[in-house]
Amino acid sequence: PRRVRTLDLIKAKTQGRRWAMLTSYDQYTAALFEQAGVEVLLVGDSAANNVYGHETTLPVTVDELIPLARAVSSATSRALIVADLPFGSYEISDEQAVATAVRFMKEAGVHAVKLEGGVAVASRIKAITTAGIPVMAHIGFTPQAEHNLGGYKVQGRGDAGDALLADARAVAEAGAFSVVMEMVPAGLAGQVTAEMTIPTVGIGAGADCDAQVLVWQDMAGLRTGKAPRFVKRYADLHSVLSDAVGRYVDEVKSGAFPEPERSFE
Ligand code: KIV
Ligand code: NA
Repeated sequence: PRRVRTLDLIKAKTQGRRWAMLTSYDQYTAALFEQAGVEVLLVGDSAANNVYGHETTLPVTVDELIPLARAVSSATSRALIVADLPFGSYEISDEQAVATAVRFMKEAGVHAVKLEGGVAVASRIKAITTAGIPVMAHIGFTPQAEHNLGGYKVQGRGDAGDALLADARAVAEAGAFSVVMEMVPAGLAGQVTAEMTIPTVGIGAGADCDAQVLVWQDMAGLRTGKAPRFVKRYADLHSVLSDAVGRYVDEVKSGAFPEPERSFE
């Protein structure tokens, strides 16, 4: 089957078909995830946390994300690949945003870019889509703005609901093909989803979105410790891997590995 296109995702919405999105930052997970049926892979700026070991998404650069995105696009043939524009790579001007998006398309071979914000970035979205590059928007809690938002908090509660609706309408009007809603009350996310013709992708936004996204190390249980409420751990990769590595270390120390059949005469 051919590569998923943005139009397929919009058509899925009209047909009432949900789809799954997951982050990926390397070739093995990318190939495995599309094989398992994930339609959209996101080379997120969450690589800052999950690949590069930073506390927030802010430090990761375009030059650090492009090689990861290249690996993901090269290793796949079916999934639509979206790359995040990292913090600092699109805030300055529409021209800067287009130039960064063009780099991801040319150097990383991705099929779309994602950026954070609503009304405030509508002109960026318009400029990038006018250049022929599909844009996925990201509203609600936007991690690049965590210092401005006062930490990880649900967005759009109470009176703030109108602002979230305005953001959703602005990104759709500007030409986004889809919109991520992060940590938004389920009822409001459902209302946005019902109103929009473009598909909504929820993360901590309830079951009424058209699609869902998670960070793969969170959903596979590779990352340990307290996870946000919206994370569901479908596996315990941390235990599986630490058990394997622990046994390897023991066998190296005892001399049980390598066995004669794994050695050369
Ligand atoms: O960077 C990321 O992983 C994301 C998703 C969680 C939406 O932006
Ligand atoms: Na992101």
